[in-house]
Amino acid sequence: MMNDNKQTRLALVVLTATFALLAVAFSLDLFGKIAPVQELPLVDRELLKTETWRRSYADLVRSKAELDDFDCYTCHEKGKKPVLKYDDKQQLIIPDEHSDVVMGHGTHGRNNNCFNCHDDENLEQLQPRDGRALKFEQSTMLCGSCHGPTYRDWEAGMHGRTSGYWNRTKEGTEQGKFDGPFKKQDCVNCHNPHSPKFPGRQPAPPPNYLREKTPSDSSHTSH
Ligand code: HEC
Ligand code: HEC
Ligand code: HEC
Ligand code: HEC
Repeated sequence: MMNDNKQTRLALVVLTATFALLAVAFSLDLFGKIAPVQELPLVDRELLKTETWRRSYADLVRSKAELDDFDCYTCHEKGKKPVLKYDDKQQLIIPDEHSDVVMGHGTHGRNNNCFNCHDDENLEQLQPRDGRALKFEQSTMLCGSCHGPTYRDWEAGMHGRTSGYWNRTKEGTEQGKFDGPFKKQDCVNCHNPHSPKFPGRQPAPPPNYLREKTPSDSSHTSH
């Protein structure tokens, strides 16, 4: 009987001490300290840009940019067709003056011949297979002459990018807040006509979870 009482008292003392310690611990907030909120790194402004990576001839004209590359006849002679030169492996030799033209159209450079697209009799024009004469601004129609299915997808808004308004039907005073024009990007805004493979892009960073430490921060605190 006596023994039991002692044990009970001991248990009570231990419990009281434990609760007292816990009370102190809680009041000092020893556990569950909220990690200081990390300052979120700002997203690189480059990733917020909405314009396409490439500027077409039409864009350059609109922004009154340098157009020297398109003044073919400052170097070429009118009425004289440039002669395509090939090396012994049947690869087109690009003259130094055109070092910015890096050809790679299709697997094995299947569509590298300049005059599949440029008019050899008038360098300032493009010429699709059907013989139409197109201005540089109309290059999308040139692309469409060989890439029919992609062109139809583009017209329908499934390929490329369409921006602007959904409701394009209303005009003038009929027009409400959500009605207005739309803009389609030309093929050459995204594809370099000479090497049209879409270049890889730097992925944007993942979202920031609130209070989560970024990997560089945790490497400071974990050891
Ligand atoms: C800075 C001067 C310069 C300008 C501007 C220029 N060219 Fe040329 N181009 C040359 C030279 C030099 C050659 C090589 C000699 C030749 O074939 O006449 C050449 C060659 C070419 C060839 C043959 C390429 C080959 O691989 O053999 C084509 C096609 C051509 N130019 C198209 C154009 C077109 C189209 C324009 C305008 C959009 C243009 N050039 C503007 C200087 C120029
Ligand atoms: C004379 C015909 C012709 C014209 C004009 C043409 N292409 Fe091509 N294109 C081809 C061929 C052929 C291929 C290669 C298909 C293959 O290798 O399977 C190709 C491939 C491509 C590819 C796939 C990537 C690659 O390099 O394999 C893209 C993208 C492309 N073209 C975009 C364009 C754009 C943009 C234009 C207009 C500036 C254009 N093409 C004009 C014939 C053409
Ligand atoms: C698939 C079609 C295609 C082929 C093949 C092609 N071009 Fe072009 N090229 C274009 C188009 C379209 C433009 C105008 C693009 C724009 O709006 O940015 C252009 C622009 C140019 C320009 C002016 C802008 C610049 O990049 O300097 C030159 C010069 C030129 N091409 C030369 C050549 C030469 C030389 C060859 C052959 C080695 C060639 N091109 C083959 C479609 C083609
Ligand atoms: C807003 C950008 C954009 C525009 C505008 C655009 N494309 Fe593309 N295109 C792409 C991307 C991105 C791919 C996929 C590239 C990849 O998978 O590597 C692609 C792929 C392609 C391919 C490869 C085969 C396929 O269908 O997947 C062809 C051919 C092509 N485009 C032609 C065109 C033509 C022709 C036009 C104009 C009528 C055009 N593109 C307009 C972005 C664009």
